[in-house]
Amino acid sequence: MENLDGKVAVITGGASGLGKSFAERFGAAGMKLALADVEVPVLEETVANLESSGIEVLGIPCDVSNPEDVNNFAETVISQFGAAHVLCLNAGVASGGTIVESSLEQWKWVLGVNLYGIIHGLNAFLPDLVKQDEGHVVMTASVAGHTSFANLGPYSASKHATVTIAETLFAEMRDAGSNVGVSCLCPGFVSTNIFTSERNQPEGMKSSLAEPPSDEDASQREAMIEWLRANALKPDVVADLVHDAVTENKFWIFTDETHIPAITARHREIQERRPPSAETIFEEI
Ligand SMILES: NC(=O)c1ccc[n+]([C@@H]2O[C@H](COP(=O)([O-])OP(=O)(O)OC[C@H]3O[C@@H](n4cnc5c(N)ncnc54)[C@H](O)[C@@H]3O)[C@@H](O)[C@H]2O)c1
Repeated sequence: MENLDGKVAVITGGASGLGKSFAERFGAAGMKLALADVEVPVLEETVANLESSGIEVLGIPCDVSNPEDVNNFAETVISQFGAAHVLCLNAGVASGGTIVESSLEQWKWVLGVNLYGIIHGLNAFLPDLVKQDEGHVVMTASVAGHTSFANLGPYSASKHATVTIAETLFAEMRDAGSNVGVSCLCPGFVSTNIFTSERNQPEGMKSSLAEPPSDEDASQREAMIEWLRANALKPDVVADLVHDAVTENKFWIFTDETHIPAITARHREIQERRPPSAETIFEEI
């Protein structure tokens, strides 16, 4: 889509982090915005800030793991704006811990938001994009969709699945001769609120988690979050890459080169039928 002015951008997880930066970037390009998020006070604040810059914005409370919420979101977008054009399926959460420690609730939460959130978004919006033969879908995956990090099993599973959904949709749109573009966003570390995702855990789940972390673990985690806030890529840089991928119809969006050697090493190991080495299995930061 070369000209975004006056068109509609739909962004899940639009209240914070990457989604909020996409909203600012697409708003600056003259788009109307529809933001879905589960964190309502933060969503309201983001909507108010965008409106104060003269951007037309809808902020809809929506849990992307719930198909009815996403269908209602899509109906509201169509009734208020008439169409959707750029669809950023971006809402996501991360949860640490080894696979042996991961509870079923953790798997369901992470896959519910990161994977089913994407499936529900496609189910609700894609048929109209295809019918109007104009639009672009951006799916937020991760470098974790191309390699495997220890202690991030459910997250990596959701991101590997996202990568293949994006590749499949790209192939299907190409084979159909459709003008609906597809991009797969694979960020490295970006300075957002992803590292405090547990703030969005469903109520009942908190009590079912294992013991709270020790003081030492908690302070190590705090130091890691501080390090990432200071050193990771800023989300507005990623938003520029996403904007350009939409207007230039680019499929892959990698934000930096940090993880490319590990991804390349993984591909080589697969070709040579070698088991995953320490080079490709990361410790969680
Ligand atoms: N920050 C990074 O380093 C990084 C790296 C790779 C991929 N990503 C991906 O980027 C995407 C955006 O995350 P972020 O880094 O901006 O984190 P963030 O926590 O700042 O933003 C995520 C947003 O999703 C919302 N959200 C959470 N659960 C939801 C639900 N059930 N329904 C609707 N909204 C929900 C949150 O409220 C929040 O506004 C995620 O898919 C994440 O996996 C982030």
